[in-house]
Order: sequence, then structure tokens, then C-alpha cells
Amino acid sequence: MKHFSSIDQIRDLNQWTKEALELKANPLAFKNLGKNKTIGLLFFNSSLRTRLSTQKAALNLGMNTFVMNVSEDAWGIEFEDGTIMNGTTAEHIKEAAAVISQYCDIIGIRAFPKLEDKSKDESEHILTAFQKYATVPIVSLESSTGHPLQALTDAITINEFTTKKKPKVVLSWAPHPKKLPHAVANSFVKAMQKLDVEFVITNPEGYNLNPEITAETPIFHNQEDAFKDADFVYAKNWCSYENYGEINDVEEDWMITKEKIKDAHFMHCLPVRRNVVVADEVLDSEQSLAIEQSNNRTYAAQLVLKKLLEDV
Ligand code: CP
Repeated sequence: MKHFSSIDQIRDLNQWTKEALELKANPLAFKNLGKNKTIGLLFFNSSLRTRLSTQKAALNLGMNTFVMNVSEDAWGIEFEDGTIMNGTTAEHIKEAAAVISQYCDIIGIRAFPKLEDKSKDESEHILTAFQKYATVPIVSLESSTGHPLQALTDAITINEFTTKKKPKVVLSWAPHPKKLPHAVANSFVKAMQKLDVEFVITNPEGYNLNPEITAETPIFHNQEDAFKDADFVYAKNWCSYENYGEINDVEEDWMITKEKIKDAHFMHCLPVRRNVVVADEVLDSEQSLAIEQSNNRTYAAQLVLKKLLEDV
């Protein structure tokens, strides 16, 4: 594996979840694998879980870690080729990626979409530029259209907590005051399509995800119908894909409540807005797996770094 940028790269997701749970049972089993290796984690956007769990994963493998808030602490990076750089950007990605590659054996990149230009966001111009100009493996820490480490985490968590051979998993859109990307939802859909689960999506009209990603997965516009017999309910907000980057008016109440999901496990990638996305009664109950999902972020990242280190 040269880079890790998509859940599509995982052929046998079940097997990966098993390997991750083995790492969880014995996190220091490969504590010398990354000795004298360094990972640089570059954040163009905020993060709590990804920033800390990926460092923890690297430390469990014996690696050194650098973390940088690129948008605040580095020179402004130019991504366009042939630009006359007399504006706000001071350093081209060609130099930046080459230089960082001299200091790091693996580079992680978090770069959210601007949600203004669908084709630019879908081109993943920041992630692909790092892949093009760096000389070391690049790991996505969430890009414009995907959050593969989160989706791997979510698959691990479902396999860890399911008591059924084929559980029913529902991805539900939930309200949010801001326009949010599709990355987490996209990668979660792709992950569920690879697991042996009954998977459905529920979202209001006008909020269907990219149809190339949802493909044959059933989409319900009635949340109650979708939640029937659910074992896992995964809540996430995303802005409109069809009316790209916009927030449409939604009249019904889509917040997750106990009455709606009954005894299903509740999942969320966090951070979550209480009593907007989900009611306290759910998040504070034992049916919420949100904290355990965050714990599993470490082992998802550790598995990916382990595989990259084994290939270097
Ligand atoms: N779930 C997730 O990626 O969390 P952070 O944005 O805090 O990293």
C-alpha cells in the first residue's frame, strides 16, 4: 500500500477489523516496528480525535510524531501550477511536499472541502497534490470527500459490538446549524457496503448523497420507517449534495431520540452537538458507542500505519 486515502483500498474489511481488534487487545505488540521512523500530521482544519488518536497509534508503533496546523503555522501553500505567486501564498506544494518528505517517513493530511465548487472538491486537489509531490506515503486524515480512518473505525466498532450475524445498520442524516461536508457519510456508506450488514440510509428530500456512492443502498425519506428493527443508528449531518453546499429547509424533526431509535446502538464520529443532532438521553446512555468509537480510532490508525510501515 503506497498511500491510504480511501476505504475503497480495503479489499477485505472484515479481516481488517479483526486485525485492528487484535491490536486493541495488544497495542504494543509491534512497538519496535516504527523505531526511528517519523510521521508528520498536517492539519489544514481543526481536529481533536484524529490528531490525538493518530499520534497515539504512531507512539504504540514506536514512531516519532510531528503535528502542524498548516493553515495557521506554515507559509501559505500554493496548489495551482504555473501561478504567478504575488498574492497570499508564499510556498508551492512542489517544494513544501518535497521538504516535508525529507523529515517524515509518512505524512498525514487533513484538508476539508470549501463546499463552494463541487468539481474542485471532488478533485481532492490538496490530497492528490501531496500524493504527487511527496516522496513518502500519504494518509488521509479526512479529505474533501472521504474520512477512511473514521469509516474503518466504525466498521471495527460494529463488528466488535454486534450480537447478530447480519445486523441492521442505519445511517441517518441529522440536523446541524452549519453546512458540513459529505466525507464521513461517504466513507461510512462505502464501509457498510463492504460488511455483511443490512444497510439503509435515511435523509430528508434534497439531501441524498452522491448517487455514485450510495449506488444500490436503499434510501428512506421517512426516518421512522428506516429505524424499524435497527441494531445500529449512525447519525451525521451533511449539506445538500444536489444543491451543492447548501442547507435546505427541513420541516420534520430529524434529531435522534430514544423514542425513535428504541434500544439500537447509537453511533457518531464526534464532535456532536447535543440536543441538536442527538438528545442527551441517548448520548448519555449505555446504548451510545460514541466514546468507544473514538477509542477505536487509535487502532484503525495503528493498523493503517502498521501496514504502511511493513510496505516501506
Ligand atoms: N471524528 C473526527 O474525525 O474527529 P476530529 O474532527 O476531532 O478529528
